[in-house]
Amino acid sequence: MKSNAKQEIVRAALIAADETFRAAVHEAVDATEGRVEVGLETDATPDALLREPVTPLKEYDPQILFMALGDTPEDGIRLAGTLSRAHPGLGIVVSGPELSQPQLLEAMRAGISEVVPDSGGQEEISESLERVLRKLGVGVEGTVRRHVGRVLTFFSPKGGTGCSTVAMNVGIELHRLTNKKTLLVDLDLELGEIASFMGLKPRFHLVDLLKNFHRMDEDLLTSYIERHESGVHVLSAPFEPEIGQSVSADEITSVVSFLRRQYDYVVIDTSKSLAPPALAAMRPADELFLVTNLDLCSLRNFKRCMPIFKDITGEKGERIRLIVNRYAKNALVSLDDLENTVGLPVFGTLTNDFHTVIESLSTGRPLVLQSNARYAQEIKNLAARIAGREQQVRPRRGLVFGRLFGTRSTNGARAATREALNHA
Ligand SMILES: Nc1ncnc2c1ncn2[C@@H]1O[C@H](COP(=O)(O)OP(=O)(O)OP(=O)(O)O)[C@@H](O)[C@H]1O
Ligand SMILES: [Mg+2]
Repeated sequence: MKSNAKQEIVRAALIAADETFRAAVHEAVDATEGRVEVGLETDATPDALLREPVTPLKEYDPQILFMALGDTPEDGIRLAGTLSRAHPGLGIVVSGPELSQPQLLEAMRAGISEVVPDSGGQEEISESLERVLRKLGVGVEGTVRRHVGRVLTFFSPKGGTGCSTVAMNVGIELHRLTNKKTLLVDLDLELGEIASFMGLKPRFHLVDLLKNFHRMDEDLLTSYIERHESGVHVLSAPFEPEIGQSVSADEITSVVSFLRRQYDYVVIDTSKSLAPPALAAMRPADELFLVTNLDLCSLRNFKRCMPIFKDITGEKGERIRLIVNRYAKNALVSLDDLENTVGLPVFGTLTNDFHTVIESLSTGRPLVLQSNARYAQEIKNLAARIAGREQQVRPRRGLVFGRLFGTRSTNGARAATREALNHA
């Protein structure tokens, strides 16, 4: 997508008692050549700011916050939570000592999107800053800026968990909510079903596009894309399973890099494969959505795949968003079990509603467009959070009490399941 529009300067605030971090942030901001400006800066500690009203911050309304966590990261994490509630969509980059797993979980819950190690310099801060800018929808370089859209990849380490349904509905809702140019890419190369879930009969598919990729441009791309009545564009999976087997990881890397320059959101659905093309779709993702159900098999697979996810997204997994589908409060695995197994917080839950979901998929009418069912509502909340359009702070999950108090029989079965998981 080409744009001649002059972009607004992104407002950043800097909270750091540590001079080295402050200098490195300024270098990283200077490197953006005017796209970002630090308009508010303080050397107060998070602890001091927690005790005083942060009125100047409120008035300045930053889009990005850089913060040095200092020796007591808990204070900084708490401050981040307060500020991200006051400024929905705020991108938070922190630097600090190595965080423990519980601290990392809290940091993510507080809305911290990037953690740079204390030893990190300008380069690491720049990389984090670019990711946050992409999330804010800001391109790179000069006045005529190269557009770089956000890539959101959906994956499930177990088949049939509802991954494609979530990816499709989130993609549609993101477009409806933001009116941004959105492409759904079906990278289930063998048995992709997104087009049929949307009631589409595409003329071409991904492999057709790859065959002509050497001469691809914005105009040619349109002939491989199907337009859905919602306004979302769709790049279909190959029609027969054997066609997709020839696709390489390099081809996926190139095509994703091309597509993100054409669209604001590139929403990619994958299959449960961990073959190189699937990993190539996960690697460039700004956010990697991992969809799971709350059962032992799903969690076992998750546990086995975590090293691969961390290899892709970095040890701390900041780009990973955990989605629990078919959530029921009395499931044998609790949300806490999941979080402890994976070491990451749950980003969202979606209710179990087989009848409504299967009817929508079978009739090719995406739920989010035509239903007030709870599942559709939850997808809307999820998309609002992804787009940074969350209006109010909702409880992270609907059923806090269900989480704390199971029935006696559930508790017994949960303990047995946990035991089995520990030995998985
Ligand atoms: N929230 C839900 N509640 C109940 N059933 C659901 C829910 N989400 C999905 N399903 C059902 O799960 C089945 C699989 O859904 P979907 O194709 O989206 O999963 P998937 O993880 O992409 O599967 P695959 O491994 O085949 O790609 C469908 O029959 C669908 O109706
Ligand atoms: Mg699928």
